[in-house]
Amino acid sequence: MTRDSRQATLGSISESDEIESLEDIDWTFKGVDTREYTHGLHNYPARMVPQIVDRLLSFYKDEGVVEEGDLVYDPFSGSGTTSVEARLHGLNAEANDINPFAVMLSQAKAIPLERAGLSDARDALLEGLSDELREVREEFKSEGEVSWLEMPDVRDGWFPEPQLHELAHIRDRIDDIEDEFGIEYARFFRLVLSHTTRKVSYQRNGEFKRYRLSEEDREDHDPNVEDTFTKKLKKNYDLMVGYSEKVDHSLDTTIHYSDSRSAVEDVGEEKADIVITSPPYGDHRTTVAYGQFSQDPALLTGKVGYDEMKDVDKNGLGGKNQVLEPLSELEEYSPTLKATLDTLREKDGRSDDAMNFFRDYYAVMEQVAEITKSGQPVAWVVANRTMSRVNIPTHLITRELCEHLGYEFTHNLPREIPNKTLPWENAPENVEGTKGNLMANENIVILRAP
Ligand SMILES: C[S@@+](CC[C@H](N)C(=O)[O-])C[C@H]1O[C@@H](n2cnc3c(N)ncnc32)[C@H](O)[C@@H]1O
Repeated sequence: MTRDSRQATLGSISESDEIESLEDIDWTFKGVDTREYTHGLHNYPARMVPQIVDRLLSFYKDEGVVEEGDLVYDPFSGSGTTSVEARLHGLNAEANDINPFAVMLSQAKAIPLERAGLSDARDALLEGLSDELREVREEFKSEGEVSWLEMPDVRDGWFPEPQLHELAHIRDRIDDIEDEFGIEYARFFRLVLSHTTRKVSYQRNGEFKRYRLSEEDREDHDPNVEDTFTKKLKKNYDLMVGYSEKVDHSLDTTIHYSDSRSAVEDVGEEKADIVITSPPYGDHRTTVAYGQFSQDPALLTGKVGYDEMKDVDKNGLGGKNQVLEPLSELEEYSPTLKATLDTLREKDGRSDDAMNFFRDYYAVMEQVAEITKSGQPVAWVVANRTMSRVNIPTHLITRELCEHLGYEFTHNLPREIPNKTLPWENAPENVEGTKGNLMANENIVILRAP
């Protein structure tokens, strides 16, 4: 796809203009559509605005720094925004994430499906489904269970019962599709099932931690599974067809289920020409709980176990499952980190948590330096969070730690966050109902790889 045809939908820069300087762009992208193409297939917390990746790739392609067929790397894939944009720009992509659900999400969004195969698989899935779901409901009503269904390992009391059985039945039908049409098609339908799972469960919408509806609201909650599933299927079908017709099917996208603190073991065979990534803001427990968000949808796929999902938030950067030795020298490498930790220590704040997070983040910077071709751009999209009410200037710390590793700083591009899905209402302590300004702006920090 040409950049011009893309820009017609993106606004702000006129179709014929080349991007002369990154500083000329309004990186806030207020009011843009962030759900075009497969970006709209499924929600994910703290999703990156696709236009950021689009503009960076356009700029570096115009400059001749990146060419079609080159490789983009993202150490924090999340829902795969970078990989989808890479393919829209004629580029291969590699990414990794420690959340198995994010891996599936990224694959389903970035790897295009042929229209003919998709429509055959969809017809096969829907054939007879309505009658089968009715049978499931009737069986549950008369027997209190559905003997032919294996129930998913979700927590008791988080789903209305007949509906949970219907979801399990759709899961089994998708397994049949996997056998007949292949895993790519099954993944596509699993995202639709996952969306349906969220809508059907008692989990409150708009929260990034698991909060249940009140007892009163639970009594009134009687969602129609088939309706929710088929409506989302139709929407996602159109989005996938639009994407599939735009992109080159011969490109490669590989999403690894692995830890970016040791990614060289899995990635790195071919070196990346550009890196565009948005790291977590802090440990998952006190910022965005990606694992909790993904738990029920992942368990409903029947492909991921409960223990594996429970570990996602402990394995995230700065999480409980520390895999790296502490590194006290980090404070010498970044004066801003030292000043921040000193302030936290004075306040008896969470200096150890901050240190653990930056120690892990630094390991990713080291790995990215190895994975990326020397001199090529690495863009970190970072938000400055608060901890113990102390502002953590992550953009400055990112720059200083990278410079210590030999990266060469080129840009810091600030942006506001008007439409990013974030836990706005949460206080820094992440207490339900307490409000605080956790993150209000981001910076895109760009450096050349050492
Ligand atoms: C801010 S999100 C990325 C969002 C993504 N750019 C998007 O648009 O959807 C950060 C991601 O980093 C992942 N993550 C955290 N620690 C990780 C680690 N050690 N290795 C790999 N991924 C990790 C989380 O699971 C989460 O999906």
